[in-house]
Parts: sequence; C-alpha cells; structure tokens
Amino acid sequence: MYLTAEEEKALSGEYGYATQKAMELLVTLGDVNGAERLIPVTSVQVSGVSYKTIGDAGLEFLTEFSSSGARVKVLTTLNPAGAPLSGELPVPESFLRRQEEILAAYRSLGVVLSCTCTPYYACNLPCRGETIAWAESSSVAYANSVIGARTNRESSISALASAITGKTPLYGLHLDENRQPTHLVEVTTELRGELDYTCLGYHVSRMGGVPLFRAEASPGSEELKALGAALATGSVSLFHFHSVTPGTPAAQDLEKVQVGREELEEARDTLTTCDDPELIALGCPHASLREVLQVLEHEPEREVWVFTSAQVKQLVERHTEVPETVKLIPDTCMVVAPLEEMGVRSVGVTSAKAAYYSLHLSRLGVRLDTLEALLSGK
Ligand code: F3S
Repeated sequence: MYLTAEEEKALSGEYGYATQKAMELLVTLGDVNGAERLIPVTSVQVSGVSYKTIGDAGLEFLTEFSSSGARVKVLTTLNPAGAPLSGELPVPESFLRRQEEILAAYRSLGVVLSCTCTPYYACNLPCRGETIAWAESSSVAYANSVIGARTNRESSISALASAITGKTPLYGLHLDENRQPTHLVEVTTELRGELDYTCLGYHVSRMGGVPLFRAEASPGSEELKALGAALATGSVSLFHFHSVTPGTPAAQDLEKVQVGREELEEARDTLTTCDDPELIALGCPHASLREVLQVLEHEPEREVWVFTSAQVKQLVERHTEVPETVKLIPDTCMVVAPLEEMGVRSVGVTSAKAAYYSLHLSRLGVRLDTLEALLSGK
C-alpha cells in the first residue's frame, strides 16, 4: 500500500509508540483488503466500551494504550458503556469499578464520553459523502444508508487506530463499486411500524450483500434506524430504500427477492421465546427524542426502561414530567449492561437486534413485539 512520507514516519515510530501501533494495524488491514492508500477521516465512533463485552483483557489493553500518551486526532465518540455514568442502575460494584476504569482510559485518549449508539442524534453527525470510521454496526448502517456518509464496519481496535491517526484504508464501502445494490427486496406487505421494519431487517440480514428495498412505504428516521440495526445483526452495513435513502441506484438486472407478512412473522417467532417478560426494555438503537415522547404518550402502567443518550434524556426531562413507571436510562443499553447479573431473566423488546443479543449473548428469555402488545401483556 502506498504511504505518504508522513505516514512512513508514523509507521517507523517517529510520532510515538501509540501512533506507530495504530499505523501498523491500519497498514495490515489495508494490505489484507487490497487498499491502495490511506484516506483521512473526519470522525470516529468507537465500540468496545462495556466491561461485559471487553472484559479484563480489553481493560488492560486500553489502560496500557492510554498510558503511552496517545491522543485522538479527530472527533471521536463512544458507544454505550455497561452502566450509566450517574448510577441509575443497580449494577454490581465490581463491574462498576472496572467500567469506570475503561471510561477513564478513553477519556485520557481524548475520546468524548458520549456513550450512545446513535451519535447522529446527539453529538456526531457527518454529512453525505463524508469519510468516517465508525465501529457500531447499527450506526454504521445508518451512517452509510440514511446519511450517505462512507464507512466500513470497523472493529473497536481499527476504529481506535483511525482515531489516533486520523486515517483509514481505502477499501470496501469507501469505494463506489462496493456501494451498489446486490439484490432487490420487494416488500409485498404493508409496513406498519417499528416491529415490521425490524423483522424485515432481520429476515434480509441473513442474505448479506447490499439490499435495495422497494415497498409502498415512506419510512422516517426511526424506521430506517430500526431496519438498519436489524440488518446489522447479519453482515449488512449498507442498504438502499427506493425513493427514500440518498442517491438510490436503479434496480435494473438485480436478482429479486420477495418478502411478505409470513416472513416478518417468522422473524418475530424466531426471536421470541417467552410470553410474559419481566422487563420491558426499549431503545435499541438508543431511542430518539420522538420515540421517548411516544412512549410517554402511552402512559405505561407497567415499568418500562428506555435506553437513550444523555442528551435526549436531558431534553425530555426539561420538557415534561416523566412518570415513575418510565425509567430513562442513559449511557448504556439492555444488551451491554449486565442485566443477567442484576437478576433479570426475560425482556420484552421492540428491536430484533435487542432480541437477538438478549437471546444469544445475555441468555435471557425474549418477547419481540410491538410496544402496545408488550404494555398490554396480550
Ligand atoms: Fe445500541 Fe445496544 Fe442496540 S449498543 S444498537 S442499544 S445493542
């Protein structure tokens, strides 16, 4: 891979240990993927934040890396942590201590402790065509597909390397030819709300590639967020939605797949293992302001936990009285918080991504359904 004189210097260690290690990783990644050169990025979203997912090995790596004096070069925001920063959840003490150490390491690297997987609603909104290096699968799908920015699905380590160097290798979804649709998904049923979009995404995620959706529907930001997050449970990091997402390509000569009500119901059934969950957990990806206000309109009688960004929580609390039944929880989510260690055994969710990871990572019972059905318990 071609490197500029500056990049060669970084690789040889002239700018310090951390920059050298970051550059080595990006060069290896670029070589493996046939990249010609590195390109600058304007922002980074880092994953690998919760102690539940990175464990002691991740904590050790971050502590060592941050103590080498490394600093990020571009705006770098952070995915949800394993617990809220201000202690709204009864997370075990030992977990909390380690979580704080992880956050301290990120802070000393210069990362903004935004702790949200919807940085585009809170603090990190790129423009169409902007080159970024993001590492949270649902935010990657949203950035590529809805915003029209360009990013590969980075790992926590490659995103951090991009944050330190301000560069990423030119391959994958940074190239026009890899952003073209690979198949046309004709949706033959009406898409009625978040549950339908998330089930559609989950069903289509198993096909991989870059789907182009055609449907009698005009999804908004939240529906596209739900669709992208569910697609990201497979290997899909970019989708097009006919007449909605920016620069939708033509559907000529594409292989066609039809998806109807039966497939959506099958996706929901696959991800449902119980009828009467203990806890209703919403906000995967983190709830937008509109979504939180919609939950409040339902005036839930059952306790509902809504995961969101600190910014959205603050706005909601300034705007209105939040009833005791609704817990707005910032900085974390139902998947990366150790719900199982807190004694939770089953969750009711509206997101296929939350359902998938609650089943397979947290080993909880799950009901995937509409908010109305979860609240009514029917
Ligand atoms: Fe976000 Fe957690 Fe879902 S990081 S996308 S709320 S699994």
